[in-house]
Amino acid sequence: MTTGTPGVVAPGVAAPVVAAPVFVAPVFVAIDTPDAARAARLAAAVAPHVAGIKLGLEFFVANGPDAVRRVAQGVPLFLDLKLHDIPNTVAGAVRSALAVGARYLTLHASGGPAMLRAAADAARAAPRPPKLLAVTVLTSLAEDDLARIGQIGPARAQVERLALMARAAGCDGAVCSPHETAALRAACGAGFDLVVPGIRPAGSNGGDDQKRVMAPDQAIAAGASYLVIGRPITGAPDPAAAARAIAESLAPGRATP
Ligand code: C5P
Repeated sequence: MTTGTPGVVAPGVAAPVVAAPVFVAPVFVAIDTPDAARAARLAAAVAPHVAGIKLGLEFFVANGPDAVRRVAQGVPLFLDLKLHDIPNTVAGAVRSALAVGARYLTLHASGGPAMLRAAADAARAAPRPPKLLAVTVLTSLAEDDLARIGQIGPARAQVERLALMARAAGCDGAVCSPHETAALRAACGAGFDLVVPGIRPAGSNGGDDQKRVMAPDQAIAAGASYLVIGRPITGAPDPAAAARAIAESLAPGRATP
């Protein structure tokens, strides 16, 4: 199971006839389940259409690193552990996570500069370091939730502050809501990866816990490097078809400028 370079049109491999080019969407599919067999089925179904899969705490806590490696075999992995602890502990967790072979690894920017720097140093010491992504403000939090946890001021300002702090501490990118993507792209420049959850394709079922959502093409146009999409794909009757439809909606010439 292999994927092409995300966001580019790649020729079909070893096709007996002239195959239609395959567009690999700049999307990591969030596979949030404790069920290893279901995760493996979903990974296999979506892998031809997307940049990779994201496995997070629900899967990792239930099944451990060996199962993560098995499910992500041959598929680029975004390991979403959202690490947040004292610098020494987070650096150790980053070193432990290296064995899993993730392309991306997350940690909470609100852990502060020393924690972020310790994590970046631990990652850089590896032969094939994962890119570290700082989680800014969870997309499930609305402004009134932020006020309740004592954060004064708009989410947008907090996101920008955290992302710039993470960049200065050596992180490779940030996770942000689609609605903060354009401002963050302007603030952080082109070399900083912006990975964006809270994506809902037009017509997909609302009524879940994501509050600050956007359609895939709009988020890419706003400056996202990658999108993270879970339930609109994993909860669809045919996850492969849902992933393919999203890839087609993002294919060159199809996306909204
Ligand atoms: O199913 P859905 O598309 O809402 O999945 C979004 C994924 O992105 C989940 O795995 C969630 O943990 C993750 N995420 C998020 N908001 C953040 C960071 C990560 O929704 N700020």
